[in-house]
Amino acid sequence: MADPAANTFRSPAPAKINLHLRVGPPTAGDGFHPLLSWMVTVALFDNLEFTLVDTPGITLSCDDPAIPRDASNLVVKTASALLDMTRASGEARRSASGVAAALQKRIPVGAGLGGGSSDGAFTLIALDRLLGLNWSAQQLGDFAARFGSDLSFFFHGPSSVCTGRGEIVNPISIPKPRWAVLILPGIHMATPAVYRRFDEMGLGDAKSLEIQPSWTHWATLDALELLPLLINDLEAPAFSLSPPLAELHARATRIVGRIVRMSGSGSTLFTLFDDRDETESSVNRLRLEVGVNAQVVELCPNF
Ligand code: C5P
Repeated sequence: MADPAANTFRSPAPAKINLHLRVGPPTAGDGFHPLLSWMVTVALFDNLEFTLVDTPGITLSCDDPAIPRDASNLVVKTASALLDMTRASGEARRSASGVAAALQKRIPVGAGLGGGSSDGAFTLIALDRLLGLNWSAQQLGDFAARFGSDLSFFFHGPSSVCTGRGEIVNPISIPKPRWAVLILPGIHMATPAVYRRFDEMGLGDAKSLEIQPSWTHWATLDALELLPLLINDLEAPAFSLSPPLAELHARATRIVGRIVRMSGSGSTLFTLFDDRDETESSVNRLRLEVGVNAQVVELCPNF
């Protein structure tokens, strides 16, 4: 983190999972889909470091050569937009010609874990601190929403209900189960393609978004009580696009002996536990019997 005079700011950027994700039919205007989602952070982190520099522009280094480092990366995109905006408004207490950013990438890409969005959100938090803007979570979330539907959540987290396109965020109690198994199949799902298949399949019922569950009650439930209530409306189109993912979902469900859900538009699958030891033994069974990359994560971690 940073003291007010520091030139450098370091922060982990957590992944998220969608515990519950209801999707309505696309809106006539922009084709986006209205959502109702309970999102939580999980203890799987990218790491970011930012330094204010005299050289103009944003430079990004990354330990994963597969990650683009140009303006298509949300770190670069959000940092440029914030620098441009503060230059125009004169709002910043400190000025900077440019920013040098370093990203240690640990959250799989195209996995429904919001890694790119989290990187973008924590870029804005870092620059807010370094430039002395002191924006509220709401201001940061409003600024971030143009860069993607999932960014705003990260300013509020760790357990929030997201509506609109995902950018309207209301924090709620953290869920009682503290542990999840994440199954990371290494399948890259393209979010727009999953939504397109959702439309082709004629899915999406506006009514499923009208009545919100009693979140206060849901947050008190044990894993085995909560899991049967959870829905992800993007599973059917994701499984239709990727039969191997559908097959893995069926096998994982048999092996762990409890309900397995998908996060976001996939491909990460997860299930929930109250007890850490039980979580570990499920991970071991999945690794041994399916040979899949699975790991234990804490929900809503402190960091
Ligand atoms: O906002 P984000 O970058 O996550 O969206 C990626 C794509 O997913 C959008 O371009 C759109 O095709 C689809 N999407 C949608 N409705 C949402 C969120 C995303 O149709 N609420």
